[in-house]
Amino acid sequence: MPSVFLKKTKLFVLPKVYEPSDDSFLLAENVKVKEKANVLDLGTGSGIQGINAAMQGAGKIVSTDINEVALLNARKNAEALGFGKIFEFRKGNLFDCLKKEEGFDVIVFNPPYVISEEKKYADLDGGINGREVLDEFLKGFAEYLEKEGKCFFLQSSLNGEEESAKLLEEQGFEAKVVARKKLFFEKLLVFRALREL
Ligand SMILES: C[S@@+](CC[C@H](N)C(=O)[O-])C[C@H]1O[C@@H](n2cnc3c(N)ncnc32)[C@H](O)[C@@H]1O
Repeated sequence: MPSVFLKKTKLFVLPKVYEPSDDSFLLAENVKVKEKANVLDLGTGSGIQGINAAMQGAGKIVSTDINEVALLNARKNAEALGFGKIFEFRKGNLFDCLKKEEGFDVIVFNPPYVISEEKKYADLDGGINGREVLDEFLKGFAEYLEKEGKCFFLQSSLNGEEESAKLLEEQGFEAKVVARKKLFFEKLLVFRALREL
């Protein structure tokens, strides 16, 4: 079974689950979680972002995905590392497995953002401009974020940096790109959004 390392921690990756790549690692390196924080790891895949939060001392993590195999994979990784008790795993499309009254201190999402004519691969394909899932996420996450909470997400420069900044600003968020990584044809960007005071 393939495996990857998050810092020095080994994570297993099941077939049909997104294998953590540059985007996953860049996001994980830049997500800051306070002790006991309540975290939402949306589109968990192998569980890497939730486990990264657990390693920083998060108190509770809800990990979601539309892919059932990913949820099984994330659960196995979390349990193998002794974090099983602080995780909850839910199958769902974006926010449909969350309750309105739920509030998270940190929301993390590495969406499918690859520009693609058809949506064949749920872990990769983001539609014509790569923003199909990302835009839905950006329009909906605020409802589930605590007042002083932070949202971290990843995208490519090819998806448009300004589009994300504008959507966030329209909803009263201060948006900042906290990390950039240059690849062959694009840059990976990590956004951090918090409510303007
Ligand atoms: C690029 S992978 C990232 C996986 C992992 N979080 C990481 O950083 O390596 C995107 C993940 O989001 C999931 N996903 C795609 N669309 C989704 C949706 N609408 N709702 C929930 N999860 C979704 C995919 O199944 C996949 O596991």
